[in-house]
Amino acid sequence: MVSKKKFYVTTPIYYPNDIPHVGHAYTTIAADILARWFKIKGYDVFFLTGTDDHGKKIALAAKKAGKSPKEFTDSLIPKFKQAWKRLNIKYDRFIRTTDKDHEKFVQKALQEAYDKGDIYKGEYEGYYCTGCEAYYTEKDLENGCCPIHKTKIEKLKEETYFFKLSKYQKQLLDYYKKNPNFISPKNRRQEIINRVKEGLKDLSISRTSFNWGIPLPFDKKHCCYVWFDALYNYYSATRKKGKEKYWPADIHLIGKDILWFHSVYWPAFLLSAGIKLPEVVFAHGWWTFDKEKISKSRGKVINVDELIAIAGVDSARYFLFREGVFGEDGDFSEKVLVERHNNELANKLGNLVSRVATLIERYGVEKTENKIHPSEEFKKAISKGKIEIKEILTDNPKDNFYIFEEHIEEGGKYGRVFSEAIRYILEGICLLVEKQVEEYELDKALNTIFAFIDYCNQYIQNRKIWETGRKRDLYELKESILKIAELLSPFIPESAEKIKKQFTAKKIKKGEILFRKIK
Ligand code: ME8
Ligand code: MG
Repeated sequence: MVSKKKFYVTTPIYYPNDIPHVGHAYTTIAADILARWFKIKGYDVFFLTGTDDHGKKIALAAKKAGKSPKEFTDSLIPKFKQAWKRLNIKYDRFIRTTDKDHEKFVQKALQEAYDKGDIYKGEYEGYYCTGCEAYYTEKDLENGCCPIHKTKIEKLKEETYFFKLSKYQKQLLDYYKKNPNFISPKNRRQEIINRVKEGLKDLSISRTSFNWGIPLPFDKKHCCYVWFDALYNYYSATRKKGKEKYWPADIHLIGKDILWFHSVYWPAFLLSAGIKLPEVVFAHGWWTFDKEKISKSRGKVINVDELIAIAGVDSARYFLFREGVFGEDGDFSEKVLVERHNNELANKLGNLVSRVATLIERYGVEKTENKIHPSEEFKKAISKGKIEIKEILTDNPKDNFYIFEEHIEEGGKYGRVFSEAIRYILEGICLLVEKQVEEYELDKALNTIFAFIDYCNQYIQNRKIWETGRKRDLYELKESILKIAELLSPFIPESAEKIKKQFTAKKIKKGEILFRKIK
């Protein structure tokens, strides 16, 4: 038996110091979309998410809440699990850094790095932001404050153990060079490379001033720096029986705020331990809320329940991946979410589904043979990459359909004439969507699918199918809608499932309204 190809996707493990908001939801939905996509494609998928329970930030938040760190985090974990359930996110494991198997593994990793001479004792003097759980140098600060949190920053002077990060500078640079996709998207790569070229200082990986963390096995009065502990979750989760095959991860999905930790510290730890490096670290952009930084103190935050309440789960999932270019920053606006729900999901997709179902209920279908395949040129253009479907034009209402492509790399535009069956175009669309999803261009994939939905609506219009009742056209449309549902199912699983049920039924009928318009 040929073993299935595997796909291992992770999200950051979030700090459980508050309930999750739209930013956390974004990364977790992205992971869910990829997990669902590869599952449909027959891959053996492992999707890991969880929480980062240790560290000073959590210890302080717990203290403020009048609870022990364990009690405090225990009270927040169900909020995360509930949020992911409401968003229809199907992860395979929810890891906590307080899980026994993880703690044991981190101790082993620390001991091995120590035995190897990659961890040594010294004294740290410098700045630390608890909000970031990160070390800063004088020159990183802005008027003595953290560049991210703008809060006053503590100066530390304490005995610590260092990890020999500097030793891995050259190996890291070599790795980036040999693996150009390791830091993705491309535009985030150079900045990391430049910073690494400037030189790497050894990293303080233990603290003595508090104890909410994993004790160093070789010196118990030190507790492990939260990022050394946290990053190892991705690997420790694959040390369980049956899970070994998933390492190395195919993609670590993260926000751009934590790219440095994932593209420098993490691979250095792995190089030191002689463990294979992950394939891709993908840093997406930052969501603002009505053009302002998401901030609880200023009331500029939207949590998961509020997100779902606007227009439902699928519309929220759809909006997040249609509105923002995956990899770049985006602005969250309730108004735009509602507009996209109404104009795209209700008007375009919803109408297509209900019109075709109604027509099929009235006229029935007649199977067509689909002998035509996408042209070699079209396939070649797709495999060369970077074609984006702007619009599919149906110029001639009878036979010929024009598909209009833009070749970004070459900067030129060209059109192709396709003829006859609608599924001729559909096949090309499927190839393109596949390529886009598998290169993590999620917004582009949705654009392509919706260009095809527009095309189908025009097809009905141009051919006046409600008058002709042509059963072969309706068969083509039915097949197209089923394929659209399949392509959309990772993004909007619940609605896609309804469409699939409706169009695979023995007797296709007009169903309930998929997306009710919102005023
Ligand atoms: O950093 N826009 O946890 P965290 C987009 N525990 N994404 C956002 C966002 C926003 N406005 N706000 C948060 C940590 N995110 C560490 C991670 S991993 C080994 C340890 C998302 O709770 C985004 O994925 O601060 C970001 O990287 C993550 O939440 C940070 O979550
Ligand atoms: Mg954070």
